[in-house]
Amino acid sequence: MTDKQLLSMAQKASLNAYVPYSHFPVGAALECSDGTVYTGCNIENAAFGSTICAERTACCKAVSEGHHDFVRIAIFADSENWATPCGACRQFLAEFSPDMEVLCTKAGGKYVSYRLSDLLPQRFNF
Ligand code: THU
Repeated sequence: MTDKQLLSMAQKASLNAYVPYSHFPVGAALECSDGTVYTGCNIENAAFGSTICAERTACCKAVSEGHHDFVRIAIFADSENWATPCGACRQFLAEFSPDMEVLCTKAGGKYVSYRLSDLLPQRFNF
């Protein structure tokens, strides 16, 4: 799967975002080591702290289906700023694959690639 294909899956997933409060849809597409892809969107809640980000939705779907080894995640948001994963999502993904690749988009279809270990050095672990 190419970066563009994974990004396109993330974009499609953002169409299912439930965002009545922020009006900021995000989509994610998480590629597992065996090639399986799980998508996710952000799901907001009236109790704002109960909101789940697109990345964690995808990760929960993957882990609940028995996948723990991730290669890449694409994150889509039609945003002025780069759609990088929030701190909680970095820690959540790093639990499973701390060195995975993270593709981040911004408006206009541009994307950049990071290593999760660069986005979250010295992740918490014990
Ligand atoms: N959001 C994500 O889905 N992923 C991130 O990495 C950052 C933020 C969502 C949460 C909330 O629904 C909206 O974007 C605004 O914060």
